[in-house]
Amino acid sequence: SLVTSGHLRHVESMAQLPSGAGKISHLNAVILGEALASEENDLVFPSPEFSAQALVSSPEQYQQMYRRSIEEPADFWSDIASQFFWKEKWHPEVYAENIDVRKGTVKIEWFKGATTNICYNALDRNVEAGNGGKIAIYWEGNEPGQDGQLTYAELLDKVCQLSNYLKHVGVGKGDAVVIYLPMLMELPIAMLACARIGAVHSVVFAGFSAESLAQRILDCKPKVVITCNAVRRGPKTIHLKEIVDSALTDCAKDGVSVGLCLTYENQSAMEREATKWQEGRDVWWQDVVPKFSTKCLVEWVDAEDPLFLLYTSGSTGKPKGVLHTTGGYMVYTATTFKYAFDYKPSDIYWCTADCGWITGHSYVTYGPLLNGATIVVFEGAPSYPDSGRCWDIVDKYKVSIFYTAPTLVRSLMRDGDEYVTRYSRKSLRVLGSVGEPINPSAWRWFFNVVGDSRCPISDTWWQTETGGFMIAPLPGAWPQKPGSATFPFFGVLPVIVDEKGNEIEGECSGYLCIKKSWPGAFRTLYGDHERFETTYFKPFPGYYFTGDGCSRDQDGYYWLTGRVDDVINVSGHRIGTAEVESALVSHPQCAEAAVVGVEHEVKGQGIYAFVTLVEGVPYSEELRKNLILAVRNQIGAFAAPDKIHWAPGLPKTRSGKIMRRILRKIASRQLDELGDTSTLADPSVVDQLIALSDR
Ligand code: WT7
Repeated sequence: SLVTSGHLRHVESMAQLPSGAGKISHLNAVILGEALASEENDLVFPSPEFSAQALVSSPEQYQQMYRRSIEEPADFWSDIASQFFWKEKWHPEVYAENIDVRKGTVKIEWFKGATTNICYNALDRNVEAGNGGKIAIYWEGNEPGQDGQLTYAELLDKVCQLSNYLKHVGVGKGDAVVIYLPMLMELPIAMLACARIGAVHSVVFAGFSAESLAQRILDCKPKVVITCNAVRRGPKTIHLKEIVDSALTDCAKDGVSVGLCLTYENQSAMEREATKWQEGRDVWWQDVVPKFSTKCLVEWVDAEDPLFLLYTSGSTGKPKGVLHTTGGYMVYTATTFKYAFDYKPSDIYWCTADCGWITGHSYVTYGPLLNGATIVVFEGAPSYPDSGRCWDIVDKYKVSIFYTAPTLVRSLMRDGDEYVTRYSRKSLRVLGSVGEPINPSAWRWFFNVVGDSRCPISDTWWQTETGGFMIAPLPGAWPQKPGSATFPFFGVLPVIVDEKGNEIEGECSGYLCIKKSWPGAFRTLYGDHERFETTYFKPFPGYYFTGDGCSRDQDGYYWLTGRVDDVINVSGHRIGTAEVESALVSHPQCAEAAVVGVEHEVKGQGIYAFVTLVEGVPYSEELRKNLILAVRNQIGAFAAPDKIHWAPGLPKTRSGKIMRRILRKIASRQLDELGDTSTLADPSVVDQLIALSDR
């Protein structure tokens, strides 16, 4: 039954395509490199030269591998897993799962009983294979000309020193460590050092505010927080240590005191002397870590021991601590990286994501390093000193695989082609996109201008929860359609269901769910398995529910259409409407707030907030600024509302539920599509809101 499921049939029909060239009746086929991708519905084929050298070079080859991954998952994944080092092999089964809430607790296990270490597999294994002299990290600082590099052997030494220090201060297997660092080499070093000793890292994106950081510290109670004194991003200096200080003070008030704040001195941003210091708690990284040995024995952990926690937004206020374990995540991130980017040992790979998000975990750090890849880590901002910075970096390091987000593509597209064409970019071979659906016009610009119509684009759909790519084109195999993430990765069984949870086949749209587990899946929400089941497995029993809408076209291609829950995707960052609302109402003059997403030219979605003030408080520009400030302080600058719309009242049903559908239409000025407003407790609210639209 698996093989006759909707998309596999489509895969079979696609497999009949001649790979490299061809036409389908209703589609206008284009061969990569020979013509520009322009028309709507183009099929963009990889060039025959690209396909010839690709790891997977035809739809047939994909189909064969995919079929095996679905029909014999245990054999498929254990063959791949055998390429890694395991101290002990798994037993008795490759995987065990129950994702059907009707049958009991949801449980996902891969390679259970095996022991391994992801840091060992990423570093020692590559050094022992003779690649110790290969560059692991090229680091590019905020200022052009400021750079550094580490070979695999050097990276291993640095990681071991920090591991030894962490052990020395009492961090052991299963202990949490919070990391609040910018994109210095020390960020992946800190992650790997934790993994080496079996400690669980929780990286908090260094753009989060003190309150958000405190919330995450309170949740996982780390022994150590690792940070740096300050960072320069573009023309600005951000004092990270002060943010940590304030978070730690708040946590202490709530009964969680962290005894150690290991602080890296980021000299180019701030001198040591200028840094506020709490004796006894704060320690300079440079004063202690280099004193430790560069050899550190590995802590072997069970494949199902936790590797990291990463908080992400959901539809309610409290962020969710997504928990990933070791073995399955290791196998999955390495394999998806290799195939979705057609990775070869000669590649230089740059992912622009920050390690504070899942992309930086799976595809800056673990996936590439497990493959022995050379990565670029960039501290700065992509438009500093000007909009050509990315291509300057691409030429400088001869980057061959460039992975970024649609929001960056759109903002660079707006700045003009000259910033791109000024640089050679001839080292580029594969491009990648992640974070939100990439609109066809941005896709084409990325393809035609950045990639000179030569480089396939891997549009990778996945989530913090999935650990790695779920739907993504294998660049040498598939003709691409601009804006479609194409087909599922090996072992992934996507299904589209209707409102009632019935699978729909063929050409259709609905809710995207996944049937069966995959090795990289998260295992729980930290400390809240019930919320894990309620959010992801109860909406459509028998499936993992992604929260995304999706359609499948007549050729079986998947098109992601965005979140169907109360989550907004701003520049590829997930923000819960409830989080922003709770930040707004924390302002004493705000009585009520309702937040919706609206289309935004660069960010994908912008944050639009309807705000009702406390009786008698007048609207003012100053208050508007303070409300935005409240959100910046509670979440972070990236969550600041783009628009505050004063609302004397909000459209509510008689039972008091806010009708967001109506607010979305008002926010996007689709006033003729308001729909039925008769069930509102007070329909006149709608007219008042419309009248206040432009204030
Ligand atoms: C949500 C997950 C996965 C790393 C970055 C974001 C959206 C992500 C795509 C894509 C269409 C995408 C989805 C998803 N999304 N990539 N290629 N095409 N939508 O991770 O913060 O966990 O967000 O981002 O809506 O559910 P995240």
